[in-house]
Amino acid sequence: MSKQRVLTGITTSGAPHLGNYVGAIRPAIEASRSGDFESFFFLADYHSLIKSQNPELVHQSTMEIAAAWLALGLDTDKVTFYRQSDIPEITELTWFLTCMTAKGLMNRAHAYKGAVQANEEAGEDADFGINMGLFSYPILMAADILMFNAHQIPVGRDQIQHVEMARDVAGRFNHHYGEHFVLPSAVVDDKVAILQGLDGRKMSKSYGNTIPLFLSAKKLKKHINKIKTNLLEPGEAKDPDTSAVFQIWKAFASEEQTAAMREEFANGIAWGEAKKQLFELIDGQLSEARERYETLMQNPAEIELVLQKGAEKARKESSELLAKLRYAVGIRPLV
Ligand code: TRP
Repeated sequence: MSKQRVLTGITTSGAPHLGNYVGAIRPAIEASRSGDFESFFFLADYHSLIKSQNPELVHQSTMEIAAAWLALGLDTDKVTFYRQSDIPEITELTWFLTCMTAKGLMNRAHAYKGAVQANEEAGEDADFGINMGLFSYPILMAADILMFNAHQIPVGRDQIQHVEMARDVAGRFNHHYGEHFVLPSAVVDDKVAILQGLDGRKMSKSYGNTIPLFLSAKKLKKHINKIKTNLLEPGEAKDPDTSAVFQIWKAFASEEQTAAMREEFANGIAWGEAKKQLFELIDGQLSEARERYETLMQNPAEIELVLQKGAEKARKESSELLAKLRYAVGIRPLV
């Protein structure tokens, strides 16, 4: 049997933070190294336009995210790493799928429903500020997935519904036009840590509580010092399981290091000392990658070249499949 194909997209709407690293980048790079899968990773820049109409930010974020993945050791000979907008077949497929998608299905999408609900709560018109990109975004995501006939889609819980919608749309298309698509499944890895942010809530750009991935050592230290703690004094026992400092420690530490820190908490380690150790742990793991990142950010042409090569690899597949799909839907030369 040929290898299972794994595909995931990263929306280019901000600088990568430690939560992205622990929850998505690190496991993806590890899985790709194992060689057990055929991996497709891409920069979802079309997706970023839904929320960000700031061209500089979209552009800058695309560069930062690409540089981060490369600096962290993504082996682009082993995986297909590309920018979504370099694959024009994806937008064409989006239209084919749009015409196979029930509007009612999109009405049920969480992202859209959440936006409507927020409007209603604010006493606004239900559709206030909602663009069609947000409404039909699951179809673009379905095209991302189906374009490469991926089997497994590693995602966070908030994205499961979208993968199920992709599956639904693929089934409908197959039923109507013949078997063209693999039915994809969402893979949610419960072992992967969901990192807490500075305020103890999930680390997320929308909460403004993130620690950016590649800060100077000095700034990293400053951020870590901002992690919320309580007023317990040195010498007083502290509860690791309700502490963001400990939760972040756990995401970077070995099992032995985690056990040792648990003990230190019981023994009343001072918050300042726990944070100092946390800084050293993270800095130790990221400092080499940070240097590679800085070098890449000074050489955008190098990143661009990697992406172009990735696009070439990806388009071999997408152009072949799209030619078949065009034929299947009746878009064909006349003679
Ligand atoms: N929508 C995803 C997110 O916000 C990113 C994404 C775009 C994606 N296309 C995808 C993820 C295809 C998996 C597969 O996180």
